Amino acid sequence: MTLSVHPLHPIFAAEIVGADLTEPPSPELVATVEKAMEDHAVAVVRGANVSDADHIRFSRAFGPLELPPGLNRAFGTAPRKRRMAPELFDASNLDENGEIIPYNSERRKLAKGAERFHTDSSFNALPTKWSLLLGHIVPPEGGDTHFIDTRAVYDELSDATRAKIEDLVAIHDFWRGRERAGLTGVTDEMRATMPPVTHPLVRTMNYGRKSLYVGGHATGITGWPEEEAWAYLQELYAFATQDKFIYIHKWRQGDLVIWDNRCTMHRATPLETDAYKRDVRRTTINEYGPERSADPIAA
Ligand code: SIN
Repeated sequence: MTLSVHPLHPIFAAEIVGADLTEPPSPELVATVEKAMEDHAVAVVRGANVSDADHIRFSRAFGPLELPPGLNRAFGTAPRKRRMAPELFDASNLDENGEIIPYNSERRKLAKGAERFHTDSSFNALPTKWSLLLGHIVPPEGGDTHFIDTRAVYDELSDATRAKIEDLVAIHDFWRGRERAGLTGVTDEMRATMPPVTHPLVRTMNYGRKSLYVGGHATGITGWPEEEAWAYLQELYAFATQDKFIYIHKWRQGDLVIWDNRCTMHRATPLETDAYKRDVRRTTINEYGPERSADPIAA
């Protein structure tokens, strides 16, 4: 089948039609996906319906995997068994036996941080490239994922703001970000698993466009007092999260959604019901290797 790319939103996001992910990816498919990602930053393959192994093979065609951190490790207890290949991040609302984890349970609290716009693994020192999220089971309603093109956001910043942020360096801190999103009870042991890292606030893509690199894990600015930095980051966040920049992905079973973490932010919308399963599994790839975990403890 011929490959074609169709925009899904006036600013960004496109659907790639004609991709068969059950076969090893051809050079033509790899080139089409790379170009679609450069042009649109978010790409959707409908009806991908592939196994974990196919998902992993397709992802590796674009970069080495970032392996999941030990976040599903329950601190102080034995590691939990997994329902899926160890290379995949589990973004579902299901426990290790495939049963729904109640929305208001302690265990779901950590995932609530993903309901704020963020860019995956920006708390990792390695430069994360893309995330590829596959919908194995999706609810009949709710559970949409929202995306923002932060290149378009950067383009619309005032000249004064662009000059102000050009050389700023943001502090990305997973646990502080979760605390800012309402999580309590973060211990020193937890903090030690993912110490803060820094990234430039403005990133330049290899094709020349600049993007605003902020999001839920960005909690400070190097050299600034914490509260002042937080207030300024909230100002940038408010600008970036205007409706006009947002593409809302309504999931269909078998969708594979790919996003470029260097120039987009995304958020999960809460599935505030325990009536539906949502089994979504993610690979994340880096720009370069080796394959390793973002979590020093699990590495
Ligand atoms: C994620 O933040 O990686 C998952 C997004 C989603 O579950 O919609």
